[in-house]
Amino acid sequence: MNRSLEDIRAEILEAKQADEDLHLDQLIEAAAYPAESRPAASRAAADLIGEIRSSGNLGRTDAVLAEYGLRTDEGIALLRLAEALIRVPDAATADALIADKIAHADWVKHKGNSNSAFVNVLTRLLMSAAWCLRGGAGGPVGRAIGAVSTPIIRFCSRRAIQFLAQRFVLGRTIQQALSKSAGMERRGYQYSFDMLGEEALTAADAEKFFLDYQTAIKELAPKSTAPDFRDNHGISIKLSALHPRYESAKRDRVIEELGARVSRLAHMAKEANIGIDIDAEEADRLELSLDVIEAVMRDPGLKGWDGFGIVVQAYGKAAPRVLDFLYALAGELDRKIKIRLVKGAYWDSEIKRAQVEGLPDFPVYTRKSATDVSYLCCARKLLTMTDRVYPQFAGHNAHTVSSILQIVGEGTEFEFQRIHGMGEALHDEIRRRKNARCRIYAPVGKHRELLPYLARRMLENGANSSFVNQIADFSNDPEDISRDPFELLEEARKRNVQAISPPSAIFGNDRVNSKGWDLHNPGQLQEIEERRTPFRTSSWTSAPEIAATADSRGPRVRVLSPSNPEDVVGEVEEASGEAIEAALGAAKDWSTATPGERGNALRRASDLYEEHFAEIFSILAREAGKTPTDAVAELREAVDFLRFYASEAESGELGPPLGTVACISPWNFPLAIFSGQIAGALAAGNAVIAKPAEQTPLIAKFATDCFHKAGVPKDVLQLLPGNGPDVGAVLAAHPKIDGVAFTGSTETARLINAGIAGA
Ligand code: FAD
Ligand code: 2OP
Repeated sequence: MNRSLEDIRAEILEAKQADEDLHLDQLIEAAAYPAESRPAASRAAADLIGEIRSSGNLGRTDAVLAEYGLRTDEGIALLRLAEALIRVPDAATADALIADKIAHADWVKHKGNSNSAFVNVLTRLLMSAAWCLRGGAGGPVGRAIGAVSTPIIRFCSRRAIQFLAQRFVLGRTIQQALSKSAGMERRGYQYSFDMLGEEALTAADAEKFFLDYQTAIKELAPKSTAPDFRDNHGISIKLSALHPRYESAKRDRVIEELGARVSRLAHMAKEANIGIDIDAEEADRLELSLDVIEAVMRDPGLKGWDGFGIVVQAYGKAAPRVLDFLYALAGELDRKIKIRLVKGAYWDSEIKRAQVEGLPDFPVYTRKSATDVSYLCCARKLLTMTDRVYPQFAGHNAHTVSSILQIVGEGTEFEFQRIHGMGEALHDEIRRRKNARCRIYAPVGKHRELLPYLARRMLENGANSSFVNQIADFSNDPEDISRDPFELLEEARKRNVQAISPPSAIFGNDRVNSKGWDLHNPGQLQEIEERRTPFRTSSWTSAPEIAATADSRGPRVRVLSPSNPEDVVGEVEEASGEAIEAALGAAKDWSTATPGERGNALRRASDLYEEHFAEIFSILAREAGKTPTDAVAELREAVDFLRFYASEAESGELGPPLGTVACISPWNFPLAIFSGQIAGALAAGNAVIAKPAEQTPLIAKFATDCFHKAGVPKDVLQLLPGNGPDVGAVLAAHPKIDGVAFTGSTETARLINAGIAGA
């Protein structure tokens, strides 16, 4: 049955959160990858590796990695320095960074180790910088050298990083890059130029990158003389370079404005008879990128042009469904497209982001062999789509390349691609043996723009598991490096070693991570919106929650939304002076509960927060003016606080309690800091009098109710909202208060003025 484009988009969303093993089983079964080709692919790869090694033509990147992989402290120091140095604007910070990263690493042990003169010069520069930083020869002479050596240190360090950067950039301008590309062009290679730039943060930056791309196409046009665009150079584009708000929250604007920009470049490329490729970036932008790509593909002016290309990342669980989507779209529009299959360059940040954001699962595979298998299965799928798709297989892994050569049918049109500075020998060998079309992806631009790209290359290549790293280390047998990834995956699954903690388990046995909400996921957004709808016009009340009766009551005040004063969010009855006294008189500490009971109650409160997320988001938005992103962060921080203090309580190492603690919290984190202060004090068995900021009494009341429902006794936690008799100052100075927790500039200033807190 034919699925609609909409159905496939829903499947893409689902796949991103799928269970890795189940998903792989389905992928492998659906791909029906030809088993008989696998041993031959491994043999061919081992043979290629032997050939490349004996050619002595490993390339400078590989040589740097062989000496400075990420398994060495010096390799890590170099990566950290490279990531930051060129971007640091002022000399003092740059010097501090250099000193921090270079002085303590042992560069001497790398001296003269490499067969590459380039690497040995790099080592000398770093040794010189470290020597100067440590005060040269020591003693008075050394100190004198140290004093005059700052410019030398800066020079050596910057040169070292520039040396590395130059490996990955073909030229600073398209003209320079074109002249440098002439040599490889004569040897039969084409290029895809990436006009460096990503993550434009301002409209001016995005405009500049857009102009750079236009200039590049104009320069390429007169040189693109081959009738088939695939025999001409092309360009690669990062969508994040072309719009300053390339984010799902701005979806409509992005589709219109970014779509128009990409369409303009596509029209120019069509006229110039060159191809373009839309690079794939972070997984949380996948949906948005597909929206933009679809908008551009629907441009009727591009019909009949086959040079529009899209990059698909095989490490993404959604990869096969993305291929389905692009194929179906090309079919519906009766067009041909190019697809570049890559493994994916953002692996480390995808893993970290999913963990930090508490996503249900990783959008990418967690085992290298899974990505390799996925790549091969997707390659196989692509090869069934050639009526609409021109496949471009990108990478530097001899096994992957050999496998493609095993499964590609006679006469099929396709090309291999590599990155400038990597995989030179492998692609030379393929061209020599198979005369396959090969294209080089080459960044063009200033070193200043290179940094995120360079960091990705260093992370990717410095990893032990990466092919370029493995081939550069001659102690690895070619047969080992060429092992069949299907087999490796099966072994890894049998061992069942979970190398990477899933997002919910990053705190190990201590506590469960707070649940995240993926605001880039349209399905999740819709769920949040639906659950929030009943609270759009709700009204909440807040009043003192005290375990006694007060003689008088404070005034009732309306709570208005700071973003829309016409929205009356609720009403608060402010604490009166009598309410303060009554609360203090009734307060009981919680030492009667065991540490385990306290921990359980705090954890139950955290679960209640998560259960009532929709109401909490609504109160945070309407009472505190929180955006959805801020509301998610706020709720998650509160939940993390509760679970952290639950574990602290259970450790039994807290206490003894101080007695009665006043928790005075600010409006800017009206749930997180409010909850954190209270949970900390309760964990140690204190009685708590909570005084929320006067602007945010409603969320404080909601939170207090959750604590009580979770089992915190009403005389242990009492709430005094409002600011009638300057509640915070009265509480903080009161003789019945044994400890005060306060955070937030307004409260702090007030307490300082009242002589209660120090500056
Ligand atoms: P290999 O060493 O075989 O594979 C390394 C890759 O395996 C890593 O990059 C990662 O994807 C994956 N991996 C590593 N460890 C794990 C693990 N524990 N679990 C799961 N997977 C793991 N990348 C993009 O993201 N977007 C692009 O638009 C893009 N364009 C490219 C264009 C060209 C021409 C080329 C050559 C590469 C491009 N890349 C792009 C980069 C590409 O993703 C990497 O270069 C590629 O992953 C390296 O694969 P390999 O087969 O050469 O190396
Ligand atoms: C990257 O920018 C090459 O697109 C790939 O890392």
